[in-house]
Formats: sequence, structure tokens, C-alpha cells
Amino acid sequence: MARVFNFNAGPAVLPVEALESAQKELVDFNHSGMSILEHSHRGKEYEAVHNEAIANLRSLLGIPEEYAVLFLQGGASLQFAMAPMNLLGPGQTADYVNSGAWASKAVKEAKLLGKVNVAADCAKEIPTRVPCESELKLTPGAAYVHLTSNETIAGAQWKTFPQTQPPLVADMSSDFMSRPFDVRQFGLIYAGAQKNLGPAGVCLVIVRKDLAARASEKVPTMLRYATHIDENSLYNTPPCFSVYVIALVTRWVLKMGLPNLYRQNVEKAGKLYAAIDASSFYRGTAVKECRSDMNVTWRLPSEELEDAFVKEASQAGMKGLKGHRSVGGLRASIYNAFPPAGIDALVGFMKDFEKRNG
Ligand SMILES: Cc1ncc(COP(=O)(O)O)c(C=O)c1O
Repeated sequence: MARVFNFNAGPAVLPVEALESAQKELVDFNHSGMSILEHSHRGKEYEAVHNEAIANLRSLLGIPEEYAVLFLQGGASLQFAMAPMNLLGPGQTADYVNSGAWASKAVKEAKLLGKVNVAADCAKEIPTRVPCESELKLTPGAAYVHLTSNETIAGAQWKTFPQTQPPLVADMSSDFMSRPFDVRQFGLIYAGAQKNLGPAGVCLVIVRKDLAARASEKVPTMLRYATHIDENSLYNTPPCFSVYVIALVTRWVLKMGLPNLYRQNVEKAGKLYAAIDASSFYRGTAVKECRSDMNVTWRLPSEELEDAFVKEASQAGMKGLKGHRSVGGLRASIYNAFPPAGIDALVGFMKDFEKRNG
């Protein structure tokens, strides 16, 4: 069966190897006579899968013992609320960097729960970007500083993270596991799985245990990080199948090597940006220094041409290139599992389309 080049922003392309393993094992998992979908989350088969996913993530990013690795539900969107519920105490202020649509949602939610200082705001700027460290107007003694490591819609990404006195909290939904980084720079990291990690339905949380312990007893049980730390994310029924696929995907990342995947990601994005820059027909929408390696965004001279581009690319087997409905334009989401051959195909198509329409 032929696979198309899938440029979807999320849910997104997954490694074929992981999909094939899931397919092979779907009916009879590990000679147990039942599917992983049918196993109890309290049984030894699922427990092994669950713990493998955690161990793989710990090994890939060198996650230290003082951090918990959690599999939660409610997506990254629930983390917009859970982070302040757990980490923002009465009378405290949290600093938020507003770099785009996703950061804005995090700000909006935090404002419902406590005092927020917007430390920098470039959410509405075009070309899109993330702020420089020197622009941040931070609050002395803030509870934490929140940023969005990669704005999936705008195609803007932090290349290095700011050094902050308070713990750094990051929404890494769309670039988690695309590059090595030092987990110790952060107090809390969260990422909806449906880009680099696995299927929708699970949100990965990495949290420093001492920070999680500070949450008020008034935070509802299910919304408290400490609950899930104490129970190894098995307080209630976890999203078993999604966690299982994370185990398969992280196995693949371990085999490929995260530094190798990162190199490949930079190369893939670099080729696309080079094609955009080589033409006056195409126009990149993010400031060059902030261009995302995961979501490449650009425009054509008119919306009619953009529509035609998306339609013809789709007919040629390149799916999901339409930009987010809130901003229009084109977006190529090229996560870890997106094959380099798909970049060459898109660059070839871009040249041909320009020749015919430029
Ligand atoms: C950066 C970022 N944050 C948050 C979200 C929301 O994630 P979820 O749909 O898992 O709630 C997304 C979804 O695309 C995202 O890209």
C-alpha cells in the first residue's frame, strides 16, 4: 500500500515501523491471547508497556530522577489550566510569554486562576516570531515563567531557552522530542502527544516533583500532579493504547538516535526554507532566526493561488499543506517521522508550480 506524504499538523505522520508493530500485535499482544486494547491497566502486560514508555523517554532526554514523567488526559489544553492550578499560589504572579495563538490560550486560562504578567507580547506580529530574552519583562519572585517552545500555527520556535530565576514552564506540544535539550532548565514541560510522540489522547507531562508537591490541597484530585506522581499515572484508567504507541515510537527514536533525528529535522526544514528564499513567488511568514524546524509556514501571491497549490499538491500525494484556518497560507508540518523524500517531492512541486503560475 502506498503511503502519501502527510504534512498534517497533528494528529500527524507516525513512524511506519511503529504502525506496523501495532498492526502486527493488535489482535494478540505478546502471545497473551488478547489485544493490548483489551488488557487491564493493572495487569503485568500493560504495566510493562507503560513503564517502557517512561523508561524510553527518560533515556532519550536524560530525565533525572527528581522529575516525574506522567501520561495525562485532557490534552495540552488542560495543562493550560493545570499548570497555574498547581504552581501559582495565592498572591503570586506568573510570567507568560505571549508568542502566538497557543501561548494566548495559555495566558487566557491562567488569568482565570491567578495573577498573570505578560512578560512579552508578539502574538499578533507578522512576520511571526518569538521574543528575544532581552525583551522579557519578568516579575521578581514570579511563581514561574511560561513559554510555548514552538508556535505550531505561526511556525515560530525558540532556538535557545531563556535563563530565568523562577522555574521555566514550557508547552512543547509541537517540538517535543525533535531535538535534545536539558530538562533541568525546566520546572514543568507538557506536550500533547499527537505530533512527534504518538496518537492523540495522551498528554506527556514532565514535572519536578518538589514543585508538584507545593500545590494546594484544594486542587481537585484528578487535576493535581501529585496524585498522578504518587500513582505512576495509574490513579485512574490511563489512555492505554496511546501510551502503548508512545512506547513503540520512542523505541524507534532510540534506534534512530535523537541527535540524528534532530540533524535530519534541521536539514529537512533548511531545504524547504531555501526553496522559499530562492523565489520571489513564495514568502516565508516567520522571522528567519525564529523559523520552526517542525512547522514551515509561507504564503503565495494570492489566496486563489494558495488554494490551487493545496489542491494540486494533494492530487500529487502531498496532503495537509493548508495553513491553519485562523491565518491561511501554507504550512508543511514535518515532524520526526516525516521522510526526507517528502521534502524533495514538495520542493520539486514548488518549483514546477511557480513555473506554471509565477
Ligand atoms: C503548541 C500547542 N499547544 C497546545 C495545543 C493543544 O493541544 P491539545 O489539542 O492536545 O489540547 C496544540 C495543538 O495543536 C499546540 O500545537
